[in-house]
Amino acid sequence: MKTIIEPFRIKSVEPIRFTTREERLKLIEIAGYNPFLLHADDVLIDLLTDSGTSAMSSKQWAGIMDGDESYAGSKSFYRFEDAVKKITGFSYIIPTHQGRASEKILFSIIGGPGKYIPNNTHFDTTRANVEFTGAVAEDFLTETGKHPEIRADFKGNMDVPALEKFIIEKGKENIPACMITITNNSGGGQPVSMQNIREVKDVCVKYGIPLFLDACRFAENAYFIKKREKGYQDKPVLEIAQEMFSYADGATMSAKKDALVNIGGFLAMNDEQLAVNCRNLLIVTEGFPTYGGLAGRDLEAVAQGLEEIVDEHYLQYRIRSTEYLGEKLSAAGVPIIEPPGGHAIYIDAKRFLPDIPPDKYPGQSIACALYIEGGIRSVEIGSVMFGKYDSKGKLISPPMELVRLAIPRRVYTQSHIDYVLEIVTEVYRNRSSLKGYRIVYEAPVLRHFTARFEMME
Ligand code: F0G
Repeated sequence: MKTIIEPFRIKSVEPIRFTTREERLKLIEIAGYNPFLLHADDVLIDLLTDSGTSAMSSKQWAGIMDGDESYAGSKSFYRFEDAVKKITGFSYIIPTHQGRASEKILFSIIGGPGKYIPNNTHFDTTRANVEFTGAVAEDFLTETGKHPEIRADFKGNMDVPALEKFIIEKGKENIPACMITITNNSGGGQPVSMQNIREVKDVCVKYGIPLFLDACRFAENAYFIKKREKGYQDKPVLEIAQEMFSYADGATMSAKKDALVNIGGFLAMNDEQLAVNCRNLLIVTEGFPTYGGLAGRDLEAVAQGLEEIVDEHYLQYRIRSTEYLGEKLSAAGVPIIEPPGGHAIYIDAKRFLPDIPPDKYPGQSIACALYIEGGIRSVEIGSVMFGKYDSKGKLISPPMELVRLAIPRRVYTQSHIDYVLEIVTEVYRNRSSLKGYRIVYEAPVLRHFTARFEMME
């Protein structure tokens, strides 16, 4: 087997800025030990998110120049619509400025008090948009997906019996849609199998509930199906993706992931009346139906990105690069969610720092150390992000304490990743010197974005 190389050459480069350890100590202190509050220019390798951080291709940049900025009926919209229809097969395609705008529109119409939305795992914005309408967001992740150390092929799968039980309990009339998030971001970027999508669909059909995909990383999911699920080895990824969407009645998508753009999204469906209602709301909140919240040039870039994302050389490189980082970290003893997902490696902070309890934020401690030691920005996904307080002010922690190293698409080369490996391994070797953190400021909601911390002695 030969080395899997980056399936592109580099035409334009963007310098990254080197800082010293002393400078970084100062910078992270000024940022209140919260990587979200760092200036991006002070970061060497930015693994905060894979969202909106992709490098666009020369053809996407050409599309930016070629974009048609007509208010209504722009030719870029029709190219975008064709590209989305080719992959998803849905009848009605509605552009939005990003994933959460699609969620906001969809749930404003189908949500509301007394309604329930089941999902394998809601991403935070999806949950927030469901709850904002007064509806309840409920997760039904398969049991293996809840155990970081278990290696299984499809840890993003939905627990189908639990879903059916829930539908019977709450009443099908109170469940306006069921969702599957592919890949399952909050559960470690783990894929969902075709069989699972089919089984969920069967249950949905039985009770007359429409199935929606949260399709941000559909191409990565399709590639995992090709590699891991019986019967798909010889099928082109495009056809696998088309089959996945064929079981759904609609989708929300953040094009900032698997459409390789810096901004964009869409909402798609087969139900004409729902599409009419969504478009009416779109006009109020996003824009005219042939541009949503986007410029014509953005629509061009999404259309082109959707063609490039199903390229199997790209996907082989993409999934292998993430796996490479995971494999080497595991070999160095660093505890991660196994197996590596599509877009990110999730460090298991509980096992990394067993002596720092959740209320001293072990994930935050690792994230700060990665910045101080190597200028790497990551994100805590644990008690800082999801922690709540009980009536006595005691922290209620989520089940897992994680640090996500998200890999932007087509941005970093293998030597960048080798450097990340060196830094994580070094921080792991010196883990006994890491300290816990205390929160000194926090906002009432979504506190992780703006919280400020102090290092504990
Ligand atoms: N659904 C999933 C599964 C996501 O991962 C995201 C975004 C969204 C919906 C919302 O899309 O940002 O375009 O509004 N995830 C990013 C992340 C922010 O870092 O994982 P958006």
